[in-house]
Amino acid sequence: EEEAYNKLHEKLDGILATMPKDKGWRSQNIFLYKGFWLSPGVLKGLLMIHDYFLPQPTDIFLAAFMKCGTTWLKALMFATANRNRYKFSDHPLNRTGPQSAFPFLDTHIYLEYPVTKFDHLPSPRLFATHFAHSLLPTSMTSPSSTSKFVYVCRDPKDALISKWHFMSKLRSKELTPISFNEAYDLFCNGVSEYGPFWDHVMGYWKASRESPEKILFLKYEDMKREPSMELKKLAAFMGMPFTAAEEEGGVVEEIVKLCSFENLSNLQVNKDGGGAQKFTAQVVVENQDFFRKGNVGDWENYLTEEMRKRIDSITKTKLKGSGLTL
Ligand code: A3P
Repeated sequence: EEEAYNKLHEKLDGILATMPKDKGWRSQNIFLYKGFWLSPGVLKGLLMIHDYFLPQPTDIFLAAFMKCGTTWLKALMFATANRNRYKFSDHPLNRTGPQSAFPFLDTHIYLEYPVTKFDHLPSPRLFATHFAHSLLPTSMTSPSSTSKFVYVCRDPKDALISKWHFMSKLRSKELTPISFNEAYDLFCNGVSEYGPFWDHVMGYWKASRESPEKILFLKYEDMKREPSMELKKLAAFMGMPFTAAEEEGGVVEEIVKLCSFENLSNLQVNKDGGGAQKFTAQVVVENQDFFRKGNVGDWENYLTEEMRKRIDSITKTKLKGSGLTL
């Protein structure tokens, strides 16, 4: 086992030595691996997922580009999957917050040496990932496997604003800060952790069109507009549709309320000093940093008309003919 683990590190070092690199938003550099920009820490996680992760037929993966709604979906998926286990008046989400509700596969896989076994998780196991569809092993993504993906995307302009704020907080104090204008240019050029944004979205979009029973494609904006309807879609896709009695009993609304930005961002555990998530030995993120505004269209406060036009035209070009609009 130790030998295999050392080999993996040698492979990682080899990749890092030869791959194109550019500026990272959080760490100094990110590396272009099979068409996507990854930090060394998550590239290690990806290699480990390929070598060690054993998907189960009932697994459900929550996939998203960074800052597109992972926190929200984590809460909704956990509350939905476990709705017969907990009372809403005394729900564990209100004590722990959504971040620790289920593992972030990308780095959690190596939080324990040499690899985290996820055998203890109740079925269906839930995992979150930011990796692009094409990077994940076919044991997870093949339409012939019965595990499922829930993908959530968001207007790239809002994802950019949210990511710049978030990464600026996490960025090492030893590095010079990234100005918003620089982040904007990097983002438009596709250079940001897990990006290019548009390739990420298109990979999951195409796969969801080909296998709608395997991948549910959601949009943050639709969820803000009609949370109950989107939640019903989500529950049905997860194989746990709400019964008529549950709908009449207000269960859908209870889950929407429990998982709302207002409820979650005001929990003690998500306030200053309330708690934090350990992603790797170096990367620890305060729970409160996962909650900022939770609005649609905050980009209006940051982008000039010229900047908006440039992003919108990239989106239009990249999504052309796909049937998807953002
Ligand atoms: P903003 O920075 O625009 O406010 P992720 O969870 O993927 O990291 O994305 C974080 C973004 O989702 C942040 O966006 C955050 O405020 C918002 N968010 C977090 N929890 C939410 C919730 N329960 N409902 C709606 N938005 C939420």
